[in-house]
Amino acid sequence: MTHPESTATAPQRPEPDDRASILLRSDARWWREAVVYQVYVRSFADANGDGVGDLAGVRSRLPYLRDLGVDALWFNPWYPSPLADNGYDIADYRSIDPAFGTLAEAEQLIAEARALGIRTIVDIVPNHISNEHPWFRSALATPPGSPERARFWFRPGNGPAGELPPNGWQSIFGGSAWTRTEDETGAPGEWYLHLFAPEQPDLNWTHPDVWAEHEDILRFWFDRGVAGVRIDSAGLLVKDPLLSEETSESAPGDHPYTDRDGVHDIYRRWRAIADSYDEPRVLVGEIWLPDADRLARYLRPDELHTAFNFDFLACPWEPGPMRTSIESALATHAPVGAPATWVLSNHDVTRPVTRYGRVDTSFAFESRRAGTPTDIARGTRRARAAALLAMALPGSMYVYQGEELGLPEVEDIPAERRQDPMWHRSGGLDPGRDGCRIPLPWLGDRPPYGFSGNESSRPWLDQPDDWARLSVAAQSEESTSMLALYRAGLSLRRTTPGLGDGDIGWIHSADSVLAFTRGDRFTCLVNFGPDPVDLPAGATVLIASSELEGGALQHDSTVWLRQANPQAPSGDRSPRPDTASDRSNGPAPGIDPGLRKG
Ligand code: GLC
Repeated sequence: MTHPESTATAPQRPEPDDRASILLRSDARWWREAVVYQVYVRSFADANGDGVGDLAGVRSRLPYLRDLGVDALWFNPWYPSPLADNGYDIADYRSIDPAFGTLAEAEQLIAEARALGIRTIVDIVPNHISNEHPWFRSALATPPGSPERARFWFRPGNGPAGELPPNGWQSIFGGSAWTRTEDETGAPGEWYLHLFAPEQPDLNWTHPDVWAEHEDILRFWFDRGVAGVRIDSAGLLVKDPLLSEETSESAPGDHPYTDRDGVHDIYRRWRAIADSYDEPRVLVGEIWLPDADRLARYLRPDELHTAFNFDFLACPWEPGPMRTSIESALATHAPVGAPATWVLSNHDVTRPVTRYGRVDTSFAFESRRAGTPTDIARGTRRARAAALLAMALPGSMYVYQGEELGLPEVEDIPAERRQDPMWHRSGGLDPGRDGCRIPLPWLGDRPPYGFSGNESSRPWLDQPDDWARLSVAAQSEESTSMLALYRAGLSLRRTTPGLGDGDIGWIHSADSVLAFTRGDRFTCLVNFGPDPVDLPAGATVLIASSELEGGALQHDSTVWLRQANPQAPSGDRSPRPDTASDRSNGPAPGIDPGLRKG
């Protein structure tokens, strides 16, 4: 595809100040331990007062992000889009949606963030494009069998008059994954494939144009100084050319459209492009797979750098599953040399303070349990503990905007204000994802809480009336707020020896406690159980997610400790299987037996 050259004038690149040069992790392996903050631009900050967040809003809040202590920003799609799926239906991959700003502003933002020590990651959507993208428009305008249609999955229908879809694949958003075309007279024609909404036709990754186009898009953004890309739906690109039906049991790699082996060739090519830059660019995969070993195959040294750890995100707040999830992630990442990532939320899932306050604290798209009772105070307490746990684990971490404020899921959005195709295509059965995408509260005592420059503008999704106490300004005044916890935790994570990338040593502990060391003096304890846990003698408390009572760690709480004496190295410091016999052994060297209480 040809595309107009950017006419943007080169932005003035501010020289990094001293603080920035301290903050910017200069190591080419920065991504192995980075804290990446996810910016959902539409809901971050609205500078022009139209109710929709924009790039000027993000630029005005960069000092907030610097002070929060993040290493990189991942921007959800910021490209022109008809918004059938809030930007994941891209009409032009090389410019900025006018509602957000201009390409020149994006370049300024990238440079200004960098000057503050913050890198930028952009979202790339290779599985599908918008039905308003020029490629799809020309495909619809040409007859069956045309070269324009070959870039997609057009097929005749089944049934005597082609009135049935080519196969039974279901859209991830509900309903058939096929939509029938009509010509200008309204006569029905071929069907096309869309694993998501009908406005998101799937690309055909056997076509060389599709490869070439995406390689060019990668270079377009890498040349503008972005440090990496987040790859949307990264496991879905390659389809079975025979379009065979899904079966309940398919061998790994044999599913007709998920995790097929051919997808790795694409990422090997992308890695070569990323590595061709002086500061190699980073590839981050969004890959939902139940099998951790299959996920690790994407992270082989010549493929992606990291992938979101959705197993951890979906894990219930229970010590056994948490430990299993952490061990499994570390064990499957180690052989390919990739760091694990720790993710508690994103723009697709239920906010942690709501989810952790329910009886069932796991997450699954099939069972979002909207409207089931939740105890927000309990959920918040657990979310605080989970945040310190995630910050202490080896690897990199993602923070979705608003997570640092402890925002709850908004579940009472009226039907006429809902935007998400998941809600619309399920006829309202699926609550969809609007509830975790509510615009941020910055200050003040009523909506729009400083989100909009214009006090009287109505945000694209309404904010609840009781969010004043959750605003950035309110939480900045409060030493025990979620925001204060994130700021302090991320600052300590950066400065405490042993944290970030590296090894972990598990400490034998009671079933209801997770305990591990990092480096030679750092210890993290998480108490999931009802009984208080005594802290080891002589340890200094660095930070705790809830108040320690009588010097003991209370329920649903995490504490970070600095041991007075170096901990003896535990030899192989990789996690060990959590067997009953392990747990009955004595505590690890340097750790007080008090840990075994609880
Ligand atoms: C990813 C995105 C999600 C989007 C979908 C289709 O899962 O995170 O928001 O709807 O891909 O692009």
